[in-house]
Amino acid sequence: MTFNKKPLPGGVGVEVTGLEVSDAMSSTTVAALRELWLEAGIVLFRGLGTSPEVLLQLSRCFGELEPHPIEHFRLPGYPELILLSNEKGLTGPVYAFDGVPTYGRIPWHTDLAFATTPNAGALLRMVKKSAHGGQTGWLDTAMAWEALDEQTKARIEGLEAKYIFCADLSGMRFNRQAGELLQASSKNLPSFPPVAHPLVWVHPQTGQRILNVSTLNIQCILGMPERESDALIQQLIEHTLQPQFQYIHDWEENDIVLWDNRRTMHMAFGHPVDEVRVVQRSTIRGTVKMGRIIEEEQQQEETA
Ligand code: SIN
Repeated sequence: MTFNKKPLPGGVGVEVTGLEVSDAMSSTTVAALRELWLEAGIVLFRGLGTSPEVLLQLSRCFGELEPHPIEHFRLPGYPELILLSNEKGLTGPVYAFDGVPTYGRIPWHTDLAFATTPNAGALLRMVKKSAHGGQTGWLDTAMAWEALDEQTKARIEGLEAKYIFCADLSGMRFNRQAGELLQASSKNLPSFPPVAHPLVWVHPQTGQRILNVSTLNIQCILGMPERESDALIQQLIEHTLQPQFQYIHDWEENDIVLWDNRRTMHMAFGHPVDEVRVVQRSTIRGTVKMGRIIEEEQQQEETA
């Protein structure tokens, strides 16, 4: 193998060192990287340099790349990369958490949980790290499913839940942290219809079962009375967010983290609004439809 790997502290995810990234990587190395991605779910790469091309070359090992559906998130000149930055002004919301005006907080979520075909994965690179905060967390939702008791596994198998697009914390129904909105997002964002997904996903490549409880997006379990549905979702979220399923990354500049989006959730912890933080990200296109759009009349019928 042309790289070294070791488990990340805490045992969720792996770290890779010694990898040479180029357009001419051997098919054996690419196959080994793909296997590791599916096996570990979360992969940290260190020391790969600073150019967006390297991020693109590494990203292409895992599949076709998908430009972000919202154009203003794209890195100018690199449509397949997303730029998240407060260097040239603020576009996202600012919240006060514990009295600190905080930028870039995105609660635990699966990317494109509001779409019928979620992306397969993503790679995030730290370009400029803030002096304080700015960590990103990942958690393994296959591990969380595995750790459920048999009775709960049987109860939730076959259930479907409703997920919505949620641009800030106000649309969250579960696990919303008390933060005072100081400044709303300055961009008009498109709207997306709600979707239904199985509450337990079956991973299209590994066959693993996965708890699908993207906290930013999940609203209710279809066909279940509201009180019962709320209690079940809350119970599953509390179970999933346990520290033994998490890896919280304290970034060094030019670290890259790759994740399997079907099998993980991630969270941006945010940073003081007056400190600059810049990240670039690629998105690996999903190829398997996991959910369906809920038409309006269906919504009324399906939500008890
Ligand atoms: C993301 O959710 O992709 C962004 C994570 C981060 O900025 O730490």
